[in-house]
Amino acid sequence: MRKPILVANWKMNGSLHSNQALLVRMLAKLRPFRKTVEVAICPPFPYLFQVRDLLGYTGISLGAQNASRAPSGAHTGEVSATMLQEMGCRYVLVGHSERRALYHESDNDVAARFRQVRSANMTPILCVGETLEEREQGQTMAVIERQLRAVIDDIGMAGLTGCIIAYEPVWAIGTGRTATPEQVAETHWAIRQFLENCEAGAGESLRIVYGGSVKAGNAADLFRSPEVDGGLIGEASLQADEFSDIGAALANRVAETESACDTLG
Ligand code: PGA
Repeated sequence: MRKPILVANWKMNGSLHSNQALLVRMLAKLRPFRKTVEVAICPPFPYLFQVRDLLGYTGISLGAQNASRAPSGAHTGEVSATMLQEMGCRYVLVGHSERRALYHESDNDVAARFRQVRSANMTPILCVGETLEEREQGQTMAVIERQLRAVIDDIGMAGLTGCIIAYEPVWAIGTGRTATPEQVAETHWAIRQFLENCEAGAGESLRIVYGGSVKAGNAADLFRSPEVDGGLIGEASLQADEFSDIGAALANRVAETESACDTLG
């Protein structure tokens, strides 16, 4: 069974003081679900060290929000994957829609970053998703397949093993607008079919999480389908209670799925 994961994407928020207060409360509140749900926190680069220390031996993983497409050298302002690995990162977001839209990261850039993360022995969380216009034109899967294909062409299906895919419809990120549970389940299913067609077993084994305005109030609905292996949480990850309630919703879904499987024998 795929272990569900909740990833906090703090984006460009926080301070030494607020991070400490947030994490102390969050760690206490997440304790009951730690066995069922894996958790990763992705702070801005300058706070990696602080967050790593606060996470200590809690079992919660450290992640970063991006990595350079180059291994090292004259790339002012960039941070390499090996530096992130040295800081204790286990996960790195790659191809977040804000990076694609605001910083013009192309599919090829994203593939190069993915490769760097992989070669530094970390797990990429590859973000894919369509704009509202693309959804309305029926282009959702064509866009997602193009985004996935760029990475697969670069690194091969073997390079995808163990990575996480985050389905994040661009129109739902930071907007307060979410996809319906049906749209989420349907798109996750279609992504699995695509991966399965690329390589038998890939669709079944990879974790696919949903991101885009997930809150405590809608998490149970959005996570209802077992196609959804967790969430990538932006705004709501800046509030300890909100984030841990999302964790509780995910843990409940897992418990329900397990007991349904037991009943079926
Ligand atoms: P949001 O962000 O939860 O604030 O919509 C999600 C994301 O950007 O990963």
